[in-house]
Amino acid sequence: MNNLTNNLTVNLGARSYEISIETGAIDSLGEKLSSLGFSKKIAVVSNKTVFPLYGQRVTQSLVKAGFDEVYPYEIDDGEVFKDLRHVESVLNRMFKIGLDRKSAIVVLGGGVVGDLAGFAASIYMRGIALVQVPTTLLSQVDSSVGGKTGVNNIFGKNMIGTFYQPRFVCIDTDTLKTLPMRELRAGIAEVIKYGIIKDAVLFQFLKDNREKILSQDSAALKHIIHTSCRTKADVVSKDERESGLREILNCGHTAGHALETMTQYTQYLHGEAVAWGMYAEARLAAALGLLPNAAIREIKDLIEGYGLPTSISEDIEIEPLVDAMIYDKKTVAGAIKFVLPTEIGKVKIIKGIEKEFILSVLKSEI
Ligand code: NAD
Ligand code: GLY
Repeated sequence: MNNLTNNLTVNLGARSYEISIETGAIDSLGEKLSSLGFSKKIAVVSNKTVFPLYGQRVTQSLVKAGFDEVYPYEIDDGEVFKDLRHVESVLNRMFKIGLDRKSAIVVLGGGVVGDLAGFAASIYMRGIALVQVPTTLLSQVDSSVGGKTGVNNIFGKNMIGTFYQPRFVCIDTDTLKTLPMRELRAGIAEVIKYGIIKDAVLFQFLKDNREKILSQDSAALKHIIHTSCRTKADVVSKDERESGLREILNCGHTAGHALETMTQYTQYLHGEAVAWGMYAEARLAAALGLLPNAAIREIKDLIEGYGLPTSISEDIEIEPLVDAMIYDKKTVAGAIKFVLPTEIGKVKIIKGIEKEFILSVLKSEI
């Protein structure tokens, strides 16, 4: 593990922003935001689980830095609430508070609240400043960085949304201490993704340091968070709106999103669905002759080693699941798109695989 700096930058010209990764970072959030020049009225959008844990420290830090009107708002906790109705409730709260275009919305929580309140920030009066304070591993390594915001609807996962970059991302690794183990494991899925798509060294690190990571060794955690954010920042800086390179970040997601949608967001956490999706897509890659058997075994072992699923419940019907994959928003003119591994650390975008082929692979016994 190298000595890592605390800060990374997402380079987007005038819209560049800093990611700060530090233990205790939320206590200096106010100071940082005051240097960004927002007006003194600020909203903190969180949920009913996270606000009671960290809301007071965030509020205190803001008040100490001179924000004299800090307005909290707690939304319901859960992926099933990531919908337009809850976006509207956030917007209504913002109007009642009277936030103006110089105000900021601080989002405190995991990826659900981050995506939902981030979307609200992007459309409130055509957009006000957004600050992400992610408190799950998944949101610290992925969703808080890069500006994808949005909600689910009856047609699928994240079907409504915007690209809207935050002005600052404050990652306080200490907040993970209260995170349930199942959520920590789900976050590891996105870290494994970075290993598969771009970083064989990170993949090896995950293999070698499982005990440390799962027992929340702070150096090991900081290492995987920093390394993941560095990859994400690099990819987003080169392709903010997913016209090419950024597509690699969707590895495991075509299959994973379909699984989440099919099970109404109640059976699998996002990270668990992505874990299964990465293995399912690795199997597709192997069946197409793109991925050697040894690599597929390594992927399976790593996913399972972190207690994540590589198979799904037998009562899930495969054909509707594949139909849900075809309905993915990356599908263009009916041609489904997958990000398939070709070795550990390298992927290839493959379009238009036939439904029957996908069905046969998913139904096979591997
Ligand atoms: P989540 O936001 O539902 O958080 C998981 C659970 O942990 C929730 O119950 C939450 O209240 C709780 N929690 C959060 N922080 C906690 C803490 N420090 N201590 C105790 N409990 C805590 O789920 P998630 O895994 O963070 O995010 C998943 C969402 O992120 C999905 O909706 C997914 O689509 C989205 N996502 C978005 C992007 C993007 O680029 N925008 C990328 C990946 C995932
Ligand atoms: N999580 C996929 C992306 O940010 O592009």
